[in-house]
Amino acid sequence: MCGIVAYIGHRQAYPVILKGLKRLEYRGYDSAGIALINHSLKLYKKRGKVVNLEESVLGQQVDGSVGIGHTRWATHGEPSDRNAHPHRSSNGKLAMIHNGIIENYALLKQELIKKGYRFQSDTDPEVLLYFIEDIQKKNGSSLEEALRIALKRVVGAYVIVLVDEDNPDTLLAARKGSPLVIGIGKGEHFLASDASPIVEYTREVVYVNDYEIAIIKPDELVLKNLGNERQTPYIQQLDLELAAIEKGGYDHFMLKEIFEQPQTIHDCLRGRLDMANKMITMPGIEKNMELIKNANRILIVACGTSWHAGLEAEYIIEELCRIPVEVEYASEFRYRNPVIHPGDMIIAISQSGETADTIVAIEKAKEQGAIILGVVNVVGSSIARLSHAGAYTHAGPEIGVASTKAFTAQLTVLTMIALMIAKEKGTISGERYLHLLNQLNELPEKVSKVLENVDLIKQVALRYVGASDALFLGRGYNFPIALEGALKLKEISYIHAEGYPAAEMKHGPIALVEETLPVVFVATKDASHEKIVSNIQEIKARKGKVIAVITEGDHIIQGMADDVLPVPETDEIVAPVINTIPLQLLAYYMGVD
Ligand code: F6R
Repeated sequence: MCGIVAYIGHRQAYPVILKGLKRLEYRGYDSAGIALINHSLKLYKKRGKVVNLEESVLGQQVDGSVGIGHTRWATHGEPSDRNAHPHRSSNGKLAMIHNGIIENYALLKQELIKKGYRFQSDTDPEVLLYFIEDIQKKNGSSLEEALRIALKRVVGAYVIVLVDEDNPDTLLAARKGSPLVIGIGKGEHFLASDASPIVEYTREVVYVNDYEIAIIKPDELVLKNLGNERQTPYIQQLDLELAAIEKGGYDHFMLKEIFEQPQTIHDCLRGRLDMANKMITMPGIEKNMELIKNANRILIVACGTSWHAGLEAEYIIEELCRIPVEVEYASEFRYRNPVIHPGDMIIAISQSGETADTIVAIEKAKEQGAIILGVVNVVGSSIARLSHAGAYTHAGPEIGVASTKAFTAQLTVLTMIALMIAKEKGTISGERYLHLLNQLNELPEKVSKVLENVDLIKQVALRYVGASDALFLGRGYNFPIALEGALKLKEISYIHAEGYPAAEMKHGPIALVEETLPVVFVATKDASHEKIVSNIQEIKARKGKVIAVITEGDHIIQGMADDVLPVPETDEIVAPVINTIPLQLLAYYMGVD
């Protein structure tokens, strides 16, 4: 994911932007660049890490109190110095950074080539920049006006920030479908893709809305819509500590965030799980309870790990609340013509609250009259703002690229929502309800216990680092966790991994099992325990290597598996939160070796 940082004010822009780009490194990138204005416009770009850029700039003049910076994750054009942002206009006066994709860039590029423009890179943002420049030239309009006209023709998602050598006291920015935060300081403004580069300078921020243009001077921020009408900036206070976005002694953010989970789950339960009064309170859900409990159907939209949380929620809500649930990849849903009936309820799940596919999916559902409940981590993010109601997951900033603590917080919130609905609908007995409240209450302590096994999990991980493939299997509530385990492994270690329902193995994939294949079973004690024992036997019969997440004291599976990762005994509805932890650590240690 690209990252953007920009500064205008009384400080030197370069160190602010460089530090900001380092804070955004967690998003992943393959090149970086900075543009500064000090009388003239200067660009510095480098393939690779921000530190490569920093080294390449050593000894050069990097003065100037206005500038823009970017980390690029290649989409159009290979990672290279040439394709790195910022891009420069053909007259050399403007520089622009962009996060997103300009879908109609090919058409615009053809038009511009016919007019004689020669491109320096293979990227879509350079096309947009030349397009803006061309409008400016043709109409004799201001840069702001040209930007507005250009954005009306652009198809796609963007955050862009522009600097102009002839107008060095103004930054222009615009967004649609990608996040942009503006930090307000005294006589200075900070722009970034998220709040992490801003938090050490100011707590006052404005989240720019879609189709808004920001005109930013050191001591003035003006927001306008594409119709040139002024909009009132909504200033919010950042609820983010600097320590939360630093590694705090851990080698990687992922490991830090895995170890934060007892605390994040505790934070997620706090103020909601009321053990004294034996109830759960979540105002956003309570206010809409009539609509939710009478919903004909719940549709969950999400991507990636958040989709896995949604699949888990399907199992839990159908079991406890007896409401039909469908889980959709937002990236598919948005391009289909889905059937949405009045009385359908949409739950959108997202850590960042900024995933473009999920945003478009809920916009589409909203157009058809659906009510949106957001289960979101980042406060004030686009999905939180687009939702009619919802519940935050309170996991704190997730900097690691692979989602860990946000996932367990999503599972915790979704389980609480299911319990609230079930109680209201009367689809759960009083005894089972109380039992599950107790189980939720014990979660932080049990997660701590799993984390105490880190050395064992690491040893097991190191035994399998040479594997080229892995299978993750589970049944029932443990099936979405198998999918999540496989996703974590491929994302972190680049080992090919697949998740399957354990019972589906016999319908084809079992042919892959051989001596060198690690097969990870999520096999804690639940209603399907006997069945999963049989599945393990099937793998052992084909000489596959079995690593099993088991309930402590499960001697049956312990006697069959090559390696076991024990977790405390937990009710099957709540167990997914616990069972995920060893798989996160397994992926991490197989990845870092
Ligand atoms: C995997 C991961 C991704 C995200 C997905 C959705 O570790 O992090 O699969 O879960 O990109 O992102 P959010 O939850 O921010 O909408």
